[in-house]
Amino acid sequence: MRIENGTIVSHEPMGPDYRVLILKLPELAPLARPGQFVHLRIAQLHDAVLRRPFSIYKAEGSHLSILYKTVGRGTASMQDLRIDDPVNIVGPLGNGFPLDVPDTATPVLVAGGYGVAPLYFLAKRMKRRGVLFIGGAKAIDILLVDDFLELGWEVQVATDDGSLGVKGLVTAPLDAWLQTSLKGARPEFYACGPNGMLKAVGDRAIKGDWKAWLSLDRHMGCGVGACLACVQKVRLNGQETLARVCKDGPIFEARDVIWED
Ligand SMILES: Cc1cc2nc3c(=O)[nH]c(=O)nc-3n(C[C@H](O)[C@H](O)[C@H](O)COP(=O)(O)OP(=O)(O)OC[C@H]3O[C@@H](n4cnc5c(N)ncnc54)[C@H](O)[C@@H]3O)c2cc1C
Ligand code: FES
Repeated sequence: MRIENGTIVSHEPMGPDYRVLILKLPELAPLARPGQFVHLRIAQLHDAVLRRPFSIYKAEGSHLSILYKTVGRGTASMQDLRIDDPVNIVGPLGNGFPLDVPDTATPVLVAGGYGVAPLYFLAKRMKRRGVLFIGGAKAIDILLVDDFLELGWEVQVATDDGSLGVKGLVTAPLDAWLQTSLKGARPEFYACGPNGMLKAVGDRAIKGDWKAWLSLDRHMGCGVGACLACVQKVRLNGQETLARVCKDGPIFEARDVIWED
């Protein structure tokens, strides 16, 4: 983990609701692994929590990218960041996805909205190719499809309003694929998106006796394990306990997560 003052190399929109921020972080970027995140200080904020967590979308040489959606005050003020502005970053944080897919398994990525960002980084670093299921509210929430196709991944899309791909939840094409396309292979799931989607993917993995690596999304304070703002009930060695999503996660295997309504 490093605390580094980076500079902005590029800041471009990706459709109407998302933006990609590329930062020059020569110390931090080479350490990044898929599924880890950075904690970005938003200088303009005047509240107690000055940092916001973002998954690492790309790490190439001394450059690190994040792909973000504007949802509130912090991400709205990030839109004003300009090339050469300084940005203070803590990271890479968290455990990251396991990269070694067992030889007998087919990697199955399941993404909701901006959850596709860490899965793209994972797909780039994985030796095996597989299938991506991506869901969102509308066509504008479905990102990076061509990038995954270029990497040699199969892509299946679902949108709530049917404006792209299958109409409905991302589990609709996933279930159809599980029924028709497995042909004896074992899927291993890697998922990032809203809790309902993560739970649905985890339930399918547990039922099929497969593994699912879920990236949990929690509001965070410190980002380094000290404040307990991000705790999640988990099962470790058969015991119920609390894990810190920022430090013990954000990636958890489906069997370890205890979902509460
Ligand atoms: C490990 C991790 C990785 C993340 N990666 C990305 C990413 O790659 N791209 C991206 O766009 N966002 C990502 N997020 C979510 C991002 O951190 C929040 O969207 C951001 O903190 C919101 O800040 P804000 O000040 O704009 O919103 P706020 O004003 O704080 O909140 C606005 C709205 O967003 C909700 N919200 C705030 N934080 C979260 C959160 N963590 N999860 C769900 N809802 C939240 C609030 O409840 C509220 O409804 C990630 C979060 C975590 C924990
Ligand atoms: S955010 Fe402080 S312990 Fe996780």
